[in-house]
Amino acid sequence: MTIRADVVVIGVGVAGLAAGLAAQRAGRSVVVLSKTAPRRGATATYYAQGGVAVVLPDTDDSVAAHVADTLAAGGGLCDADAVTSIVADGYRAVADLAAAGARFDTGPDGRWSLTREGGHHRRRIIHAGGDATGAEVQRALDHAAATLDIRARHTATALLHDGAQITGVAVLTPDGPDIVAAPSVILATGGLGHLYRATTNPDASTGDGVALALWAGAQAADLEFIQFHPTMLFDGAAGGRRPLITEALRGEGARLLDADGEPIMAGIHPLGDLAPRDVVAAAIDARLRATGADCAYLDARGVADVARRFPTVTALCVAIGVDPARQLIPVTPGAHYSCGGVSTDPYGRTTMPGLFAAGEVARTGMHGANRLASNSLLEGLVVGGRAGVAAAEHALSAGPATPGPETSAPRAAIDRAELQRVMSTEVSVLRDGPGLAAAAEKLDRARPLTPRTRRDFEDAALTTVAAAVVAAAAHRAESRGCHHRADFPDTDDGQAHSVPLRLDDTRDARVA
Ligand code: FAD
Ligand code: SIN
Repeated sequence: MTIRADVVVIGVGVAGLAAGLAAQRAGRSVVVLSKTAPRRGATATYYAQGGVAVVLPDTDDSVAAHVADTLAAGGGLCDADAVTSIVADGYRAVADLAAAGARFDTGPDGRWSLTREGGHHRRRIIHAGGDATGAEVQRALDHAAATLDIRARHTATALLHDGAQITGVAVLTPDGPDIVAAPSVILATGGLGHLYRATTNPDASTGDGVALALWAGAQAADLEFIQFHPTMLFDGAAGGRRPLITEALRGEGARLLDADGEPIMAGIHPLGDLAPRDVVAAAIDARLRATGADCAYLDARGVADVARRFPTVTALCVAIGVDPARQLIPVTPGAHYSCGGVSTDPYGRTTMPGLFAAGEVARTGMHGANRLASNSLLEGLVVGGRAGVAAAEHALSAGPATPGPETSAPRAAIDRAELQRVMSTEVSVLRDGPGLAAAAEKLDRARPLTPRTRRDFEDAALTTVAAAVVAAAAHRAESRGCHHRADFPDTDDGQAHSVPLRLDDTRDARVA
């Protein structure tokens, strides 16, 4: 039985719900798909800790200052117009969310409290529940989204199109395969952390949106820029989703130490422990390689009232027997965020008529080669809302869609554990040509697969996206942002541009 809508949104995180609500406000019928059961912790949004970077009125901050920090962190690859447009719309988007019920932490004067994170020269990050910002953002959006038609346990498995424009989505439901017919589809599928053995991302972050877009013929870009968060908790576990230790702890005075108690960031960057994330992750990675230690340490003993200000982090530490008020927190860099994704403009429009993307799945030009901390929830809110409006407008002008049968070629996949092993070994914080070639060779051995389950589909998506990341990383023969090449350690001004990528006729990833 075919489901019909004007707009289909894939994903129920910050970008998906912002988009769905905006499309509904514009008067269009909306169906929202989520591959998980409705539960706490199903989205990356839920796990966000540090906060939302936003320029508040009547402070010493300015849009120009936030833009300058974003461009500096982005290593020369941000689109300055996109950054300005998104940052300038941030306060309105956050104020709307507060009006919808989100409660951000306030200081004694009743105004929103501001913290700092890496790469920010000012305190401009609002937060909730101390370090449980994402849970509050998700709670407020879930509440507002009670009016939306949300289909849980519905995995989008292919985008349907007639060669010129989108006609709908093939979907795997608990009752079997189905089709959602719609002239506008919004990808809000989040990130791809499960390309790696250990990640801060939830289970659903398997790169589906990038794979769906590439399979349909849309363009992606900047996939080589995978951000490793400097401080994933090192708890000895082998892999899967690992807890994050928020950067805001360093914003409140915590310092990174090596196993000998030496400060890791001393003399490396003018911002020290609050250098942009790519710089800090690379410094820790280099120190671990040099010393052979398993992990670095975060010294948060000087942070005032740490248990009250950081209840989430405190609970995570206590669960492994560490009291952050008295003991050092063991940490290691972990796969955290995809700076690249499906190419869009700042309104979520992709290269394909009827297809939109917002949130972590999209490459708007906001993040360049390295995302500035706490700019992701901001981008998801702003561009999610805009994509909803643009998709509603497109649906009105395109009229009802009539999808044909799914015609995409069979998928291919390699074993997930093997994929994660090769990505974690060869395509991690530090890469080189021979390692990337070995990874490409391994991924080339993918076997044809007809996806029958969500897991099969995710394995095919992970394989396509891993091959695309490897192709992009091999093409970029320089070091920039979160892409560090041992064989090309310097930044090359001649490569200060984003490189678009598509699948070719043999369904191999090719830089355009
Ligand atoms: P998500 O919130 O991940 O939602 C993706 C949705 O898509 C899910 O509902 C998923 O089920 C669905 N989906 C995926 N594939 C399919 C499919 N095939 N079919 C159907 N549904 C599908 N950013 C900040 O700005 N500030 C922070 O403090 C911060 N802290 C973070 C802490 C952690 C631990 C993590 C992991 C990330 C953090 N980030 C932070 C990053 C930020 O949280 C994410 O980038 C952002 O929430 C992504 O939102 P999204 O809507 O794009 O995706
Ligand atoms: C954190 O709280 O350290 C994560 C912030 C982010 O990913 O933007």
